[in-house]
Amino acid sequence: MKDIYILGIESSCDDTSAAVLKNGMLLSNVTASQAVHEAYGGVVPELASRAHQQNVVPVVDQAIKRAGITKEQLTAIAFTRGPGLMGSLLVGVSFAKGFARSLGIPMIDVNHLQGHVMAHFIREPEDNQTTPPKGTEDSSIKTQSPTQEGNKIPQLPFLCLLVSGGNSQIVKVNAYNDMEVLGQTIDDAAGEAIDKCSKVMGLGYPGGPIIDRLARQGNPKAFHFAEPNIPDLDYSFSGLKTSFLYSLQKWVAEDPDFIEKNKEDIAASLEWTIVDILMKKLKKAVKQTGIKHVAVAGGVSANNGLRNAFYDAEKRYGWTIYIPKFSYTTDNAAMIGIVGYYKYQDGEFCGVDAPAFSKVTFK
Ligand code: KG4
Repeated sequence: MKDIYILGIESSCDDTSAAVLKNGMLLSNVTASQAVHEAYGGVVPELASRAHQQNVVPVVDQAIKRAGITKEQLTAIAFTRGPGLMGSLLVGVSFAKGFARSLGIPMIDVNHLQGHVMAHFIREPEDNQTTPPKGTEDSSIKTQSPTQEGNKIPQLPFLCLLVSGGNSQIVKVNAYNDMEVLGQTIDDAAGEAIDKCSKVMGLGYPGGPIIDRLARQGNPKAFHFAEPNIPDLDYSFSGLKTSFLYSLQKWVAEDPDFIEKNKEDIAASLEWTIVDILMKKLKKAVKQTGIKHVAVAGGVSANNGLRNAFYDAEKRYGWTIYIPKFSYTTDNAAMIGIVGYYKYQDGEFCGVDAPAFSKVTFK
């Protein structure tokens, strides 16, 4: 049988990434991040788009070279079609279409959110795993210790807590192409809330990793911030953000050095509150669905407090948990490539007229 080489391209926000997979096995994954946004405390869409234009050719070139193949060997090109920043998406989408056309190979559009969830199915040569499940087929699970993060392929159906800078959702995954959103944020995403609170504290961007680092040295019960009271399985983080801002303003009015003196405790208390909000609804979803296979995905899944909460739930409630490798938590093309591989096998290609889309959807 002929080998299937998929090139994945991701450009939905501020990471330009390209990956090559051979028969579903990852050969290379190259990502260029954009430091230009740090000075602004957030992603500036126009600058992101320009940086993607500069990065896309060298990143794709590197990915193909590191995979040890030539572009003529590629079977198909998978690309992130949305959701994301329109200007950023357009660069990857246009490049992918042009490249596929010039090589005379099919193109496959991939939903970015589906990609995050499917990051759990990325296989690296050293993983030595069985073939990942496709569709609703049964998967053969290898039970591994929590230290071997990312080495466990989820059993279908499973629940996935998808938490990133743009999304906070609880997704029921029936198959790679059959995902149901059980609950989602009605305002800010968890990552967005962390980033904004970090900005209020005068820390750098993105705030997630900085808050994570500080929180490890702080007391999570030192300060109290408001938790939302939202029905069903939906989330809300705007109230927490406001509570955080007002609390800090009050404390700084009393002592101008308050943040500097207490930054570890503030970070730990903020992280504890966000993890508590996320886990409460996730536990509710497990109860409602009876599904105890639970994964976490997206940029915030790199967070130490959230990972520990998952390990705790594994011990306390008997969940089977799936934690991605750090390299596949934030935006990357390997996750786009793996979805592309499954879609290729199902003959799900797109036309050159498939437009990029910015709105959050799983369709
Ligand atoms: O998935 P991602 O790279 O991009 C989106 O698709 O949104 O997620 C980025 C988000 C940012 O808000 C960033 O602050 C957050 O993930 N993040 C973290 C950590 N690392 C990244 N949040 C908490 N703890 C971390 N260690």
